[in-house]
Amino acid sequence: MTMAKRVGTLVGRYEIDSELGRGAMGVVYRARDPRIDRTVAIKTVSLLGLEPDAEQEYRERFVVEARAAGRLSHPRIVTIFDVAEDPYTLTPYIVMEYVSGRSLEEVLCTENGILPLDTALQVTQELAEALDYAHAQGIVHRDVKPSNIIVAEDGHPKIADFGIAKLNAPDLPQTGRTLGTPAYMSPEQLRGDPVDGRSDLFSLGVILYQLLTRHRPFPRAAIHRWTTEETYRQTGTASSLSRAPWGLQSRSVIPAERTIRSRMLFHSASHGNN
Ligand SMILES: Nc1ncnc2c1ncn2[C@@H]1O[C@H](COP(=O)(O)OP(=O)(O)OP(=O)(O)O)[C@@H](O)[C@H]1O
Ligand SMILES: [Mg+2]
Repeated sequence: MTMAKRVGTLVGRYEIDSELGRGAMGVVYRARDPRIDRTVAIKTVSLLGLEPDAEQEYRERFVVEARAAGRLSHPRIVTIFDVAEDPYTLTPYIVMEYVSGRSLEEVLCTENGILPLDTALQVTQELAEALDYAHAQGIVHRDVKPSNIIVAEDGHPKIADFGIAKLNAPDLPQTGRTLGTPAYMSPEQLRGDPVDGRSDLFSLGVILYQLLTRHRPFPRAAIHRWTTEETYRQTGTASSLSRAPWGLQSRSVIPAERTIRSRMLFHSASHGNN
């Protein structure tokens, strides 16, 4: 079944109502849980293109990560209610709190790309408190960015997709899966090094900068240059790489750099200036 056709059908016991948006992993729907009689948001994940072993491993990790993020209970974090696979299509999905509002990305698009100082500081402080809570439980978001922050109708933000970014499969450039969003990623995450809560705080700092100035501190070209130079520094292959055509380069450089490039290429194609 194609994703668009899910509207009006069931995923598990949930009645799909409308599509809320699409990301790198799949589609997010608004749905109704008939058992509890409440509106929920459902993120379905497309596993197209995965090898059977990778698919099985992914399904297992999906449940583990959703369970970890599902332990979080905080007013500024989108609560996870359920994780399952549709019995007919076997599509994995996560059921979460539905937040009526607009993502910070949409807010920035419509509010002239800038927020009043008081609002920007208030939103940032609330997000920092939510991150502090999650980090104290050992959970790192890894993809803090405006589309993962939903500003509810009461003006308060909620962070979505906690821990889920880890589930994006970076070795699948053909499906456009990405791990984090380069414009908001910390240097250690761009390098593919282990990350902790400080990496999320770096992303929050990028968001605050953007909320106040309308610009991102690190334009994509600068990030691309930095990752390339960093890779050259680590591998010491600058002189040969600078002469080699793209295909040869990608065989010579460390896998992390290939991954970063494919993420950036995907994001340039699908997210405009992300
Ligand atoms: N719990 C929710 N309640 C209401 N809307 C939501 C919820 N979760 C996600 N959305 C909306 O669905 C859209 C798609 O979300 P999704 O996480 O799939 O992609 P993304 O965050 O935009 O991008 P990426 O996949 O690159 O991380 C988001 O823009 C958001 O506005
Ligand atoms: Mg998201």
